[in-house]
Amino acid sequence: MKGLPRGGILCIVGARPNYMKMAPLMRAFGAHDTLPRPLLVHTGQHYDVAMNDRLFSDLELPAPDLNLEVGSATHAVQTAEIMRRIEPVLDETRPACVVLVGDVNSTLAVALVAAKKAIPIAHVEAGLRSYDRAMPEEINRILTDQLSDLLYTTERSAGDNLAREGIARDRIHFVGNVMIDSVMRHRTRAVASAETLGREHCPWSASEMKRGFALVTLHRPSNVDDAASLEESLQVLDAMSRQLPVVWPVHPRTRGNIERFGLGAKAASRRIFLLPPQGYLEMLGLMRDAQVVLTDSGGIQEETTALAVPCLTMRENTERPITVDEGTNTLVGRDCKHIMACVEEILAGRGKRGQRPELWDGHAAERIASHLATWLAAPAETREHVTA
Ligand code: UD1
Repeated sequence: MKGLPRGGILCIVGARPNYMKMAPLMRAFGAHDTLPRPLLVHTGQHYDVAMNDRLFSDLELPAPDLNLEVGSATHAVQTAEIMRRIEPVLDETRPACVVLVGDVNSTLAVALVAAKKAIPIAHVEAGLRSYDRAMPEEINRILTDQLSDLLYTTERSAGDNLAREGIARDRIHFVGNVMIDSVMRHRTRAVASAETLGREHCPWSASEMKRGFALVTLHRPSNVDDAASLEESLQVLDAMSRQLPVVWPVHPRTRGNIERFGLGAKAASRRIFLLPPQGYLEMLGLMRDAQVVLTDSGGIQEETTALAVPCLTMRENTERPITVDEGTNTLVGRDCKHIMACVEEILAGRGKRGQRPELWDGHAAERIASHLATWLAAPAETREHVTA
């Protein structure tokens, strides 16, 4: 840690969905004339090479200036360990502000420590609410927002959520979606699905793929953490694979649970092709080329909306309602009949095409950089009046 410059902008990442949000921010901060230098700290929440190194290079994210190497643990231990390890970093570097993205444990852990040291906190992707406190991310979102000085939002409904929780409108800034900045920057470099499937030795013939394929991702505790839910999720995949072949990059948490619950045989089908976690450019290509995406991810709901690909979200709620109201997303839960009816509609060409939401234009990070620069330059007592 020695040798890290003081007074910079401390940018925190911990888990995979943080990287595509932070990459455009690091770029915009670095390119800005007056902002202090951005420093990147990785908490080490995700440590798999497949979930890290590849994504960093795909996204042109610089190597972290520091890795806290916390690894996996229970939520309490992981959060506490990040807090313990970030404290001396904040003391040493005394940043001008801390920039946090999303809703993972790393986000909340750093917010708790920075807030008590009176270091300004900017939360990017603030105000999203599923109103489902069974999701660990919902707890992380609510608390991080309460502790943040600057709340940058991706959709207007997020600002309303924050206002309802008593957060002053002056601190809420609707800037658009940094995750979509990454989609727009990299979509022309997306790796074609045929190339990815070929590289992974997919056994399907052209005729087996004549109706295209479905892309699946599943990792939410509600879908994969107990044997009954995971088995139900696998039944949905089985039903779907009878309509069109299923490509499934499997999250390590899900893969571990398939083994733990002895469900390997249920996941093994010629029509369901299991892949290891993929790089960003491979995932972009798989999403772009899929007929339909079935997921429980937060980010993929947004990315499919930006790519105009129909998305079925295997959850009862979403913290990203604009993807349903304006985009290509449909909430389907785990109801197999309903899901299959939606798949039929999509295959018949009647899937949602949607439209790209307001300010999902590839420039959200620049808007944040320019607002943050003005805010940091203003005297503390007038900062709250600096608008985005
Ligand atoms: C975390 C985030 C979730 C995000 C997801 C994306 C929280 C509360 N959850 O969930 O919001 O959508 O990342 O991936 O922060 N594991 C590995 N290698 C790794 C990381 C994890 O094998 O590099 C396995 C471990 O068995 C670990 C499990 O996955 O126990 C869960 O990892 P963890 O980071 O705790 O949560 P995610 O499920 O990945």
